[in-house]
Amino acid sequence: MAGTGEVWPHVLRRFPDIGAITALDISHRMHTEAVERLHRQYAEKISHLEANALETDLPEHFADMVVSTFGLKTFNPEQQSILAGQVARILKPGGCFALIEASDPTGWVLRPVYRMYLDKVLPQIERFFLNGAQDFSMIGTYTRNFGSSAHMAQALREAGLEVSLKRHFFGCATSVAGRKPD
Ligand SMILES: C[S@@+](CC[C@H](N)C(=O)[O-])C[C@H]1O[C@@H](n2cnc3c(N)ncnc32)[C@H](O)[C@@H]1O
Repeated sequence: MAGTGEVWPHVLRRFPDIGAITALDISHRMHTEAVERLHRQYAEKISHLEANALETDLPEHFADMVVSTFGLKTFNPEQQSILAGQVARILKPGGCFALIEASDPTGWVLRPVYRMYLDKVLPQIERFFLNGAQDFSMIGTYTRNFGSSAHMAQALREAGLEVSLKRHFFGCATSVAGRKPD
């Protein structure tokens, strides 16, 4: 779910000796536009794989690290379990993963304000200031349905991975990170 690759510069800064990034996304156009516009200076390190993350036939033990930013929220629990199986299969033994997603901050005192921001304000801001763009028109529904990364954490554990689940910004995002045992 690499999208426009916002995370790539951070990964490359943290791991400067990295050999290559395989950017997997169901949409090839997202990738080519992003590389051209945002990532030209390290474009040779990034290859794109147009594939459904739930069905990819990337080889077993393919990756040292699997990273996803904001790609989980459209998957229902069953799809998250399939994805967890894919992460476990693709990772090399000893490899690590980190997945973060926007979430519903249940229990937070400012949740009603934040929900109003996601449901109403953000879609309007983008419509007015980004030429009618609708990238965030469903963000409220998606985050409400997704809840948090808790199910993903459980699915990754069931797939044999070591997992820690964290809340960020009062639960407005949640992440799962960990490794595949040697
Ligand atoms: C919200 S964007 C995340 C983009 C980027 N990772 C970021 O941090 O901004 C979600 C991306 O997931 C991709 N996507 C959705 N379902 C997918 C699937 N089943 N397999 C692969 N990519 C998928 C979409 O094409 C989109 O680029």
